Amino acid sequence: MRSFRFLAFVAVALVAVSAPLASAKLRQNYYANVCPNLENIVRGSVQRSMQQSPISAPATLRLFFHDCAVQGCDASILIIKPNGDDEWHNTDNQSLKPEGFLTVMAAKAAVDSVPQCRNKVSCADILALATRDSVFLSGGPNYAVELGRFDSRVSTKNSVNLPHGNFNLDQLTGYFGSLGLSPTDMIALSGGHTIGAASCGFFGYRLGGDPTMDPNFANMLRGTCRANPAGGFAFLDGASPLRFDNAFYQNLRTGRGLLGSDQTLYSDTRSRGLVDLYAGNQGAFFKDFVTAMTKLGRVGVKSAANGEIRRDCRFPN
Ligand code: HEM
Repeated sequence: MRSFRFLAFVAVALVAVSAPLASAKLRQNYYANVCPNLENIVRGSVQRSMQQSPISAPATLRLFFHDCAVQGCDASILIIKPNGDDEWHNTDNQSLKPEGFLTVMAAKAAVDSVPQCRNKVSCADILALATRDSVFLSGGPNYAVELGRFDSRVSTKNSVNLPHGNFNLDQLTGYFGSLGLSPTDMIALSGGHTIGAASCGFFGYRLGGDPTMDPNFANMLRGTCRANPAGGFAFLDGASPLRFDNAFYQNLRTGRGLLGSDQTLYSDTRSRGLVDLYAGNQGAFFKDFVTAMTKLGRVGVKSAANGEIRRDCRFPN
């Protein structure tokens, strides 16, 4: 039985690895001629946003995932339509924190304040750079970002399809496989939950005796959520919630994963090996995280043929 389940897991993995990625021509230094100082401008702006709010970095990282996972990395998540038919108005996006949007808007304003760069850099690329800087300035890896994405002209409420905190391993691998990402990518990307928080509504159902959760941890969370039924929240990595490190995986080994979809990475023996590896070796986690973020950043990328460089990230030109 166990070997059958392993084979099924490997089969999903192979399908995931062979699924086609978008064929846009991204490259590092894409803006070297039009906006040579781009990376410094964005990093400086992200640094200022992070000084203004500790929520800036996790909110930006999550925003990037929610952008790329729906219709590709095309800044469609930033579009606001007067009739409300946009991705942001979908229930699954309503918990995105404003600080992520503000971080990107501030970076875009900083880029556009340089005459040479004005309206030359896509919102999708600014989001990708701001995400890398949020990770790095939180203590995570500093990786090269491929650039050259165009911004979409469309965003619709019903196009949103995102994973949920109660997903099991098969649902998670299936979901990420549909994006062309492997189980390893999925497990490494889940490490994004090393920063930021979740509202009680996303994990409250686990507090009534989920055997995979440490009982002391469950008790503590029950107190948190009872004290503030409407606005209660807990850190996804209670050990170091603002630091991008491998503590997230160490928590999973002691039953201190907040979301069911995180804890299942350890409870399910098929993915436990990688959790153990990342928990003991931060370098291995960082390496796989960078690979997975680079692959995520290629999903559904738009070109000049089906995209544009948005002047205002909130509205198609
Ligand atoms: C594996 C499937 C995933 C599920 C089921 C999931 C689910 C969730 C949920 C329920 C929250 C709490 C939202 C709230 O209370 O406001 C959250 C937060 C977060 N997620 Fe995920 N997520 C997943 C993957 C990812 C990925 C791939 C990334 C980035 C690489 C990511 C980054 C974050 C961050 C940084 C936060 C904290 C946001 C904040 O504090 O503002 N997540 N996620």
